[in-house]
Amino acid sequence: MFIHKSLFTGVAAGAAGAALTGWFPIINTVSVAHAAETPFSFAWISDSHLYPKTLNSLFVEKLTRAVKEVQAMNPPADFLIFGGDIAQLGRADELELGNELLKEAKIKKHFIPGEHDWYFDMGKKWGQLYGQPNWTFDHKGVRFVGLDTVTRAPDYWSATKMTPEMRMDHMATLDGTVAGAWAGVGDDQLVWLHGVLSDWKKDAPVIIVSHNPLYECYPPWNFWVRDWRQVHEVLKPYTKVTNIHGHVHQVLYNEIGTLRSMGMLATAWNWPYPPQGVPALTKQMMRADPSDLYDGTGWGIISPSSLPFEPQYVAWGRKELFSPNPADISSAHPEVLHPRIADNGWFWKN
Ligand SMILES: [Fe+2]
Ligand SMILES: [Fe+2]
Repeated sequence: MFIHKSLFTGVAAGAAGAALTGWFPIINTVSVAHAAETPFSFAWISDSHLYPKTLNSLFVEKLTRAVKEVQAMNPPADFLIFGGDIAQLGRADELELGNELLKEAKIKKHFIPGEHDWYFDMGKKWGQLYGQPNWTFDHKGVRFVGLDTVTRAPDYWSATKMTPEMRMDHMATLDGTVAGAWAGVGDDQLVWLHGVLSDWKKDAPVIIVSHNPLYECYPPWNFWVRDWRQVHEVLKPYTKVTNIHGHVHQVLYNEIGTLRSMGMLATAWNWPYPPQGVPALTKQMMRADPSDLYDGTGWGIISPSSLPFEPQYVAWGRKELFSPNPADISSAHPEVLHPRIADNGWFWKN
C-alpha cells in the first residue's frame, strides 16, 4: 500500500533512469495512491549549504552534479523544486552562487527558503533572488503548495541581542536550541493555507513542499514545526496530501492520519538520525562511508503520475541504501503519537 517495499531492489525502477543518463543510483520506492491526471515527474534538490567557492569547492561540485543530473533526466522533469538551505551562512555571495549554479538546469524552478538562507539578513537577499517564500500552483491535476516553515517566528534574536553573525553561528549547528524556535508555519500562513485549499476537491491530490517536516520528528534539532498540530487540522479534510521536505538530510518516511511525509537527501552532507523520535515508518539508511564524501547525499525525483507514486532517492555512492531489517513496517502498525517530546521539554509552547 505505501511503505518502503524494497531494501536493495529499487534497481528495477532505477534501471531505466540509469540507462538513459549514465548514473546508477540505488533507488528506493515508496508507493502512494495519490495519482495525477497525466504522467509527469519533478526533481527535488535541497540543502546544498554553499560556502563561497574559495572556502569549499566540494559543496559546489555536489550541487553542480545534481543540477547536471536533473538536466539529463529523460524524459525531462516538468520542473525543479529547491527545498531550502541553498546557502550555509546566508551571505549574499553564497545565495548568488546557488542561483548561478541552478541556472544550468534549464527548466522551471520553484524555491522555498531554509533557515541557513534567511537569518543573516532576515531574507532580504533570498527574496531578491528567489521571490516569495510561499506560493501555490496547479499542475496536471495536482495542487502544489510551497510552505514557508523558517521565517515566521517571533523575534527572539533582537531580544537576545544577537548579531547576524551570531544568529547564523547558532543556526549552523545541529543542536539548534540557542537558535530560537524558528521552525513554524505561523497563524497567518495557516489561514493562507486554508484559503488556497478551500476550492480544491477533498479527494484530489495535494503536494506540500516545505523545508521542515510537518510533524514532530525531533524538536531539539528543529526537525519539526512547532505548530504542526494546527497544520494537520487544516489538512485533515483532504485525503491525498503528501509532504516532501528537506532539512533533515536523510531518508525519512512518516504517516499521521492521511498526511504522508517524506524527507529527502541533502547534496551537502547527511545528518545522523535523532537519538529518539525517528518515525516508526522509516527504514533507516546505513550511515556514511567516511572515505566517500558523496556517500549518503544526493537528490530526488518525484513522479506523482500513476500508481504507485514513487519518490526516488538518487543516493550518490551507495550500493546499499537501507539497513537490512527483516521486514517492512506496515500501516497495520501506525505511528505512535505519544509521548510528545516537545511537551516534556523547554521547547516552544503555543
Ligand atoms: Fe540543511
Ligand atoms: Fe535547514
